[in-house]
Amino acid sequence: MSDVRATTRSQELYADARELLPGGVNSPVRAMKAIGREPIFIARGAGSRVWDVDRNEYVDWVSSWGPLILGHAHPAVVEAVAEAAARGTSFGAPTEAEVQLALEMSGRMPSVEMMRMTSSGTEATMSAIRLARAVTGREKVLKFAGAYHGHVDGLLTEAGSGLATQGIPASPGVPAAATAATVTVPWNAPETLPSSSDLAAILVEPIPANMGVVPPHDRFLETLRAEADRSGALLIFDEVITGFRVARGGAQGHLNVLPDLTIMGKVIGGGLPAAAFGGWRELMERIAPAGDVYQAGTLSGNPLATAAAVATLRQLGDAAYGRLAETTETLAGGLREAAAEAGVALTVQSVPGLVTPFFSDRPVWNYAQAAKADLQAYAAFARALLDRGVYPPPSQFEAWFPSLAHTQEDIEHTLDAAREAFGEVADR
Ligand SMILES: Cc1ncc(COP(=O)(O)O)c(C=O)c1O
Repeated sequence: MSDVRATTRSQELYADARELLPGGVNSPVRAMKAIGREPIFIARGAGSRVWDVDRNEYVDWVSSWGPLILGHAHPAVVEAVAEAAARGTSFGAPTEAEVQLALEMSGRMPSVEMMRMTSSGTEATMSAIRLARAVTGREKVLKFAGAYHGHVDGLLTEAGSGLATQGIPASPGVPAAATAATVTVPWNAPETLPSSSDLAAILVEPIPANMGVVPPHDRFLETLRAEADRSGALLIFDEVITGFRVARGGAQGHLNVLPDLTIMGKVIGGGLPAAAFGGWRELMERIAPAGDVYQAGTLSGNPLATAAAVATLRQLGDAAYGRLAETTETLAGGLREAAAEAGVALTVQSVPGLVTPFFSDRPVWNYAQAAKADLQAYAAFARALLDRGVYPPPSQFEAWFPSLAHTQEDIEHTLDAAREAFGEVADR
């Protein structure tokens, strides 16, 4: 079924884009450098499929990196956004839809009694940390190696090996002072948690998906909850990926551990720019203008984004989550089988709505282990899939995002392509 596709128009656009946009893109992973090819420019999407500017069709497993849990251009979302746009795109004043959305969200996440909307997950993270520092009167934030919380200066710290590392900036332009209060420890390693009591926050992706999907060991989140309670730090769950995806109530609902603050994004915007942070009432009431912790945004709670959000969440009942879990398992199981048939060492890790096939012969429990996966094999696999009309995340350290639009036929097409792609990987 191999049909290596012409991508002439994408190549032309990429040549122009590189003159105008750094690296030709507006966010780095889109450039596909990690899989050693040029980016594909997308013209349109419908359901589980996207079409590029050369009219090639793909089964899309990126789903805009998570927001499109309903698939592309879902009629309910398109209609809600069009209606909202016709009424006015932005007012800089409160609207009814913001109250409806807050009600929908707090009804799903028990620890989110109040919230503040933002336009991106990065902003939400930055603001949640400010609130945690204000509440505790402390500065240090603990995070985990391989976790990503947006491009907040203080969180761009290098992963340490084994033991805790005091923050070292991972990007030029990040002042050492910005990361000096960041402590980075390995994921799933309770013995490396600091014993001090000077943390403002323990910041955690409850099911990390930015080093690939690496779920917590049994009771690791409970340990973090207990550690936060002992030390007086706030436990912050970054549910930008997991929120409203792995379950109705996000990872906190799925795993039954409640944080103090939650960062949300992706699914809640339904493909439009919306994110939020929220938590217990007495904490959130410190946010201005109820309280003294400053936070603001011209487009926060934007009418188009809130309309998309409400329309998206209203499609997400228990039956939808059951279906998403089934789709995820069928894909994960199929990839496992196809790799085994081809004699390729693959460990597929998944939770409902998230999958990562690691080119590794053993389970991955932390970033150091993820980094040991065969990145060249993933790159060859991803390139071979693209040549066969399947669009996977162009990096080993990402999750595949099944949506409610993916069908059995999409999975079969993906697995047919995967069988051939694994064959190419095995023959390298
Ligand atoms: C877990 C997590 N937190 C925060 C962010 C940042 O969100 P945004 O890209 O909307 O700024 C991301 C983005 O991928 C993420 O995966």
